[in-house]
Amino acid sequence: MEFPKQLQNKINERKENYTFRELHGENNRIDFSSNDYLGFSKNKTISSKVARALKDQRIINGSSGSRLISGNNSLFEELELMFSDFFSAEAALIFNSGFDANMGLFSSILQRGDIVLYDELCHASIRDGIRLSNAQCFKFKHNNLHDLGKKLKNPKLSTGNIYVVVESIYSMDGDQSPLKDISDYCRENNIYFIVDEAHATGIYGKRGNGLVVELGLEKHVFARVYTFGKAIGCQGAIVVGSQELRSFLINYARSFIYTTAMPIHNLLTLKYAFEELRVTMEVTKLVKNISLFKEEIKSRNLEDLFLPSDSAIQSCIIPNSKSVKDIANKINSNNFDVKAILSPTVSSGRERLRFCIHSYNSEEQIKQVLNLLSTFV
Ligand SMILES: Cc1ncc(COP(=O)(O)O)c(C=O)c1O
Repeated sequence: MEFPKQLQNKINERKENYTFRELHGENNRIDFSSNDYLGFSKNKTISSKVARALKDQRIINGSSGSRLISGNNSLFEELELMFSDFFSAEAALIFNSGFDANMGLFSSILQRGDIVLYDELCHASIRDGIRLSNAQCFKFKHNNLHDLGKKLKNPKLSTGNIYVVVESIYSMDGDQSPLKDISDYCRENNIYFIVDEAHATGIYGKRGNGLVVELGLEKHVFARVYTFGKAIGCQGAIVVGSQELRSFLINYARSFIYTTAMPIHNLLTLKYAFEELRVTMEVTKLVKNISLFKEEIKSRNLEDLFLPSDSAIQSCIIPNSKSVKDIANKINSNNFDVKAILSPTVSSGRERLRFCIHSYNSEEQIKQVLNLLSTFV
């Protein structure tokens, strides 16, 4: 049977615009693209503890079912208690990924008649979760409290609960949300506030417990999402909030209910990664490397090309998919792994090279990759 013509046309369209996505095998290039900010995915202490624990226990490869059927075990409960303490929350619930966490959270809590306002740069998983609900939804301008207020004055708004959604560190721009101002605004206006801390998890706050806790806002945030595929170097995510929220999600979040539970080796990796987080020096190294990267941008007069960011995500705007791809290819062929981020992941005209800084990048590597950038832009 022939591949449907409409779908083929869509593929062709991507190829013509230089936005066609392809998978590539692993490479040995110097890493300026992964989310493994602290090198935890390759951390030997974590992997050897996991290997030992697996050897000591009854080896179970798969979890055998969803948590509500046969996949639950005491390690889930132990970790969820540890996470609620670590992230200063009443309760936590583990999901298989950050995508699942956001899909499950938003599609279940938002009811018909509710209103949800989200920052225009929020991640696809937040938008898709919202799209699955029957709530009225609006995006507001990035980090713009004034625009948020304006959107809330719309006379056509329905009368249900109101939710506001932001990320504490934005995944593509790397900048920070004005969490305190938005939280104050939400409190004054009886709005439920939700924060996705994917790119802050493990890096910001005490021992990596995120920006909401660092700013002392945890009592004013209805739900928080922390993901484990980035600085934690593993896989999975949690939603934290009240006990009622946890019970609600166990009952209504379809991406929690209708999926096989996380396997034990993943749970053990989480356990030992969070142990490592309590003693690691990698965060200090990462912070030093981010400062160095920013100084080196400045000394090469590249500052105007970069979006303002103090995080591990440093984006160099190069509008036009072909131009940014060409520069990424040239940098990659010099043995540095830097990814071009294209539309529709970012809006058209805002294509970029996204540099992810890690604790394990050397001073020399940071200087070399920026030398290449200045040669090619
Ligand atoms: C802000 C944000 N939320 C959620 C996710 C999804 O997390 P995961 O990769 O664990 O599915 C991402 C991943 O890129 C993200 O950047």
